Formats: sequence, C-alpha cells, structure tokens
Amino acid sequence: MYEDNLTNWDHSDAETALTLPSRYYYDEALFRLEAKTIHYRTWHCVCHRSEIESPGDFVKFDLLDQSILVVKGESGNVYAYHNVCQHRGTQLIKERRGKIKHSIICPYHAWAYQLDGRLRKAARTDHLKDFDPARISLKSVPIEEVASFCYVNMDTDTSPLADDVIGAESEMRRFLPDLDDVVLVNETDYVVNANWKVIVDNAIEGYHFQLSGPIHKQLASLIDFSGYTLEAHGKWWDFKGPPASVDTAFGHSVAGETYQTNWFYNIQLWPMTTIYAFPYADVIGTFNQIPLGPEKTLLRFGHYQPKSRSQSALSKAVVDWFNNKLGPEDIDLNVAVQQGLRSFGFDQGRYVIDAERGPNSEHLLHHFHQLVYHAMHG
Ligand code: FES
Ligand SMILES: [Fe+2]
Repeated sequence: MYEDNLTNWDHSDAETALTLPSRYYYDEALFRLEAKTIHYRTWHCVCHRSEIESPGDFVKFDLLDQSILVVKGESGNVYAYHNVCQHRGTQLIKERRGKIKHSIICPYHAWAYQLDGRLRKAARTDHLKDFDPARISLKSVPIEEVASFCYVNMDTDTSPLADDVIGAESEMRRFLPDLDDVVLVNETDYVVNANWKVIVDNAIEGYHFQLSGPIHKQLASLIDFSGYTLEAHGKWWDFKGPPASVDTAFGHSVAGETYQTNWFYNIQLWPMTTIYAFPYADVIGTFNQIPLGPEKTLLRFGHYQPKSRSQSALSKAVVDWFNNKLGPEDIDLNVAVQQGLRSFGFDQGRYVIDAERGPNSEHLLHHFHQLVYHAMHG
C-alpha cells in the first residue's frame, strides 16, 4: 500500500535529504517487511565467548517469534540451533542462560538431544515404522565469532559476518584490547516503548550530547569533541573521541585507574549490536536494540570487565551510572520521539549534517536509514 510513496524517499544527498518517513517507525505492515528483510536475515550478537566456556553452557537469544540457542558442545565446538523440539514443536529452553547437563530434554515427551543438536533418544518409539532417531537433529543456524563475541543469523544462506565487517575487528582490538579476556558482570534488560530504530538513531549521533539532559552533559565533559569522529564503513560504523583532561570521572578520581581505553569509543555492527567503552572505565559495554514490535524494543545492556583485574570503584560506578542515569535519560528521549512520530504534524525532518562530518553531524543516521531502506525495498 505504500509503494507509491516509497520510491519518493529522495535520500541520495545526505546534506539535503529528508529523514526516513515516520511510518517506518510504527506501521505494522512495514514492521513485518522489516522483520523478513532485516531481522531474520542479519547477524545478531548473542554473547561473549566467556559466557559459554565449558560444555553444556548455553545462552538463549529471542528475536520476535524466533528463539535460538547457542551451546558449547563436548568437543569445544559451539553450536547454534532453533530452540524447538522436532517431535511436535515445543520450545525446549525458557531460561536466558544456564548449563545443560548431558542432554536437552524436551519438557513434553522427553525427547533428548545431545549438545550438538542430534537426537539422542526418543522415548517409547522403538516400534515406529521408518523412524531413525539418528537422522533427527535440532535445526541449526549459522554462528560466527568476531572479536570474541558470538553472532547468529537465521538465514542459512547468509554471507559470512566477517565479510560484512571487514576492518571492524582490528578497530575494536585497538580500542578494546582486553576483548578476549573479559567476563560478564552485569546484564540489564529494559522494555522501551519505541521502535528499535529510534534507539539506534539516538545512539549514533553526538548532536544531543551537549544539548539534552544533565547526565549527557556529564558524559560530554569527559570527551574532547575537537577530536570526535563518526565514520561509516558499510555494515559497521564507529564514533569516538579522545578524553578531555579531567581529575575525576563518574564521581571518582581517575588517578591510578586502569582502563581499556580512556577514549569514548562506540562501534555498531548492522543492524543492532553496539559495543562501547566510556572514558577512564575498565568496562566493555554491549548495547543491543532487540525489536519486540513496531513500537516496543528490548534494550539489553551488558557490562564486561577484564578477568585479570578486579573491578575498580570507578568501573563499578560506571555500570551503575549507565544503568540508572544515562540509560533512563536516553530512554525518556526515545519514548518522546516515538510519541511524536505518530503525530499528524510530522512526517520527515532534516538531517543536521556538516561538510566536515563533525561531532554534531547526523550523517550516521542517514547512512543507517539507507541500509534499512535498501534492505527492505532492494
Ligand atoms: S514435543 Fe518434544 S518430545 Fe514431544
Ligand atoms: Fe544519548
């Protein structure tokens, strides 16, 4: 029904383009098209490798009506498969993470699957005609590791993630040198009444940093915006700035602190994975914008810290500050945008873009919207 207008989104010139039309942020039919063309066909970060360290460790990743299990096998291989029994379709595992002892047992008729997904035993089926348990297996999906994080894709014909994000891993390793050596210290989920793209849009511009709420201004005071850059590289982009010279950060002295980087560093892998570090904090953060519906998103914040160093007071304060101060301040902005996008008084705005692609420039939004639009409409 939108075909007429769709071809009209003139977005070729970032400097004059109008933003992605509002209906992309609330319309049910467009959301379904987006699920089919983006969410079910792209790579999603599930966990850090340390979360599935020993055989049986699993992490579950739910996306809309789909559920995927990532499991460490006996041999040390990591498997990813749909979280659904091959007998009558029961969902196998409910928990976000845990440890499977020996087999995954279906709660309905107790079919038992090995860690590699193969059916080990189907109770009371010996008499069945033409039934060979050895030929039954949970349905696997592609899994890949990039910079020690595990990604899955529900599209079995997908191209490798590594091909999509060439250059991203070395950039991550430059700013997050302890990537291989971190463990999860905190994971917090928030349900936000906003489209996932509202949250991405907000995350990938620095324009609002010094203009919105007081918590943003605290973060802005730690960054030297004269060196701030926002760069798009196809299916990944990053934005980063060197530290401002300060004595204290997040309420603690920075003297003697160890940290991944004293830069403000953020990288996003298309479509919804962000990995970041705040200045002076010995913490790697992950930030996933997982759609729940056209106007509802699960925001998942993970905080990881180096295994080999104890968590400093400053690093603890950062996790608390992010979960309880910056996060809520951004969420309020996201919800306010979502409410406005449905207004009869708004459809498209202007990207604020400067020729130098400086700290206030919204060119990453334009880049992201183009990826969304082209994924949906070819
Ligand atoms: S549905 Fe799983 S064993 Fe029957
Ligand atoms: Fe923000």
